[in-house]
Amino acid sequence: MKRDSPLAPMATIEIRTVTLVYPDGTRAMEDISLAMPEGKVTAVLGPSGSGKTSMLRVIAGLLEPSSGQVVVDGRDVTGLPLEKRNIGMVFQSYALFPNMTVEENVEFGLKVRRVPPAERRARVGQVLDTVRIGPLAKKRIRQISGGEAQRVALARAIVYNPRILLMDEPLSALDAKIREELRGELRQFLQEFGTTTVYVTHDQTEAMALGDRVVVMNRGRVVQVGTPPEIYQNPANLFVATFIGHANLCPCEIASEEGGRYRFALPWGSFSAKAGEMRASPPLGRRMLMIRPEDLAIATHGAEAHCVVRVEEVLYLGNRLRVGARTESAERMLLDVENTRRVEIGERVPVRLDLAKLHLLDPEPGPPA
Ligand SMILES: Nc1ncnc2c1ncn2[C@@H]1O[C@H](COP(=O)(O)OP(=O)(O)OP(=O)(O)O)[C@@H](O)[C@H]1O
Ligand SMILES: [Mg+2]
Repeated sequence: MKRDSPLAPMATIEIRTVTLVYPDGTRAMEDISLAMPEGKVTAVLGPSGSGKTSMLRVIAGLLEPSSGQVVVDGRDVTGLPLEKRNIGMVFQSYALFPNMTVEENVEFGLKVRRVPPAERRARVGQVLDTVRIGPLAKKRIRQISGGEAQRVALARAIVYNPRILLMDEPLSALDAKIREELRGELRQFLQEFGTTTVYVTHDQTEAMALGDRVVVMNRGRVVQVGTPPEIYQNPANLFVATFIGHANLCPCEIASEEGGRYRFALPWGSFSAKAGEMRASPPLGRRMLMIRPEDLAIATHGAEAHCVVRVEEVLYLGNRLRVGARTESAERMLLDVENTRRVEIGERVPVRLDLAKLHLLDPEPGPPA
């Protein structure tokens, strides 16, 4: 969809050293500084209670931070109410008027803003087409499905061409099939629409699919910011590694040897690797070795193997098999295998690690709560 005039310029959102303490003493945001680039989708990902909705409310002006500032395009908007910020919001619970029709719901915000009737009708019609619910215009909210209601909520948020779009788990109330369908559409829409968007979710797949950048939160703090591949391949700590995708983790000890070869000692054995085979020279000492299931393979020759595992279960995922196995020293391991390979429960298979994909983490968990 092309934006119509007047073209709302895009905005950069900055949060500067924001702390949010609720009246009961709950610390929902702890000294957070973040910049959300204009025209991009920033996905905020974190477990329940990590402070995602609180952050969204602070950006929207529904909550005032206890300290710090919210800055939009270099202007301090801390203290300005929602109506003065030109922000569109989509909530998890839709927050629609059940007895009003679809078009009345979408028109509501324009009426409040005193947009003339002819222009209102034109904009509502256009925006309903954009989110593909034009034919539902005259139906009441209680007569439409959850997926359709979510489209109405989106239409209502974008109808006055906001500079900033804030979305709080907009798809979480929908069942898996519709959620996936809407996710794809939403991605396309957000890319074309090009509004600066903050998209809150606790679903990593959604964050990866929709975010140009992902902000990972835990216990009121930002633990990592990066593109989806950066977050997946280079998690900053154990929390991020295990929260996003599956991480095979194993404690290891790294000692240097001559000629740039490093010796890795693990509970199930040891191997050595040249600096050039890995993506970076590893630090010496005790680390946590992380490797993703798709970076492990069943070795074709025993000599290529780094370890031997015993297969405990095989999950058919359609395009591949996910094999759950255990090393001789009882570490659990998940590996992805081509779906044409026959793997039997109880079978002992040699496993090869893709050394270029090894990731080493600090063995200590993140900062305490
Ligand atoms: N009005 C409130 N008063 C006191 N504490 C609150 C209030 N709202 C939220 N909290 C607390 O603040 C913390 C962050 O809550 P928030 O709603 O921001 O989490 P969230 O990441 O959005 O979680 P979810 O994924 O479950 O929606 C939680 O510990 C929560 O219990
Ligand atoms: Mg929330």
